Amino acid sequence: MRKPVIAGNWKMYKTPAEAAAFLRDLAPRVAAASHAEIVVCPPFVDIPAAVDAARGTNIGIGAQDLFWLKEGAYTGEVSAPMLVAAGCRWVIVGHSERRQYFGETDESVFKKTTAALDEALTPIVCVGERLEEREGGMTENVLATQFATGLSRLSPEQFARIVIAYEPVWAIGTGRTATPEIAAEAHHFLRELIRAHFGDAASEACRILYGGSVKADNIKGLMAQPDLDGALVGGASLDPVSFAAIVNF
Ligand code: 13P
Repeated sequence: MRKPVIAGNWKMYKTPAEAAAFLRDLAPRVAAASHAEIVVCPPFVDIPAAVDAARGTNIGIGAQDLFWLKEGAYTGEVSAPMLVAAGCRWVIVGHSERRQYFGETDESVFKKTTAALDEALTPIVCVGERLEEREGGMTENVLATQFATGLSRLSPEQFARIVIAYEPVWAIGTGRTATPEIAAEAHHFLRELIRAHFGDAASEACRILYGGSVKADNIKGLMAQPDLDGALVGGASLDPVSFAAIVNF
């Protein structure tokens, strides 16, 4: 049985004080939720306030990115040991916005994923096709390439500790959610890639989240798909009422 993960990716929103207030508001709304792991990923500077406010709750805190080296002269970067020291247990890797605006590649995704695993952080590794790739019938090729370069080089032990997020780029922030059927198709394809490379048990155990315009009113239909193990939520994770409604789908 795969335990669902409902993770909020705040992107570049909220100050430390707003993060603390959000978590104090969210905590009682999701306190009874034991069916899913609950994760909130605020901006770096909010992490200490978020960790503090989430202490003693069932909410884990994650970062939105990391660098693959532990320390050094890398202006502006944050390492996995620093995230762990700050109280993070999760980290998003390879989000499409990082790929699009900050030059993230499948190669850097691989390095960041292993760096996270080395420090016992759980990476939520993002894959997904752009609109023109979907319209050009390239979705499966894109996913296969992202899997081959970013994920298949992990050892079986490493692979067992990651979470994958399928985020079709055309569905992010557009209000254009993939239908449950479209999402299910991609999740099934990813699970077959995993099966071919890592075997049946790894494929059955791997949690694959869906991300892209997830809202309280579409989460139920998405979660009804057998290959879909949770959600990576952007916009709707910024409000404690709507995020709690998604957690408590
Ligand atoms: P939205 O939920 O705002 O579409 O964002 C999805 C996303 O990118 C989560 O990582």
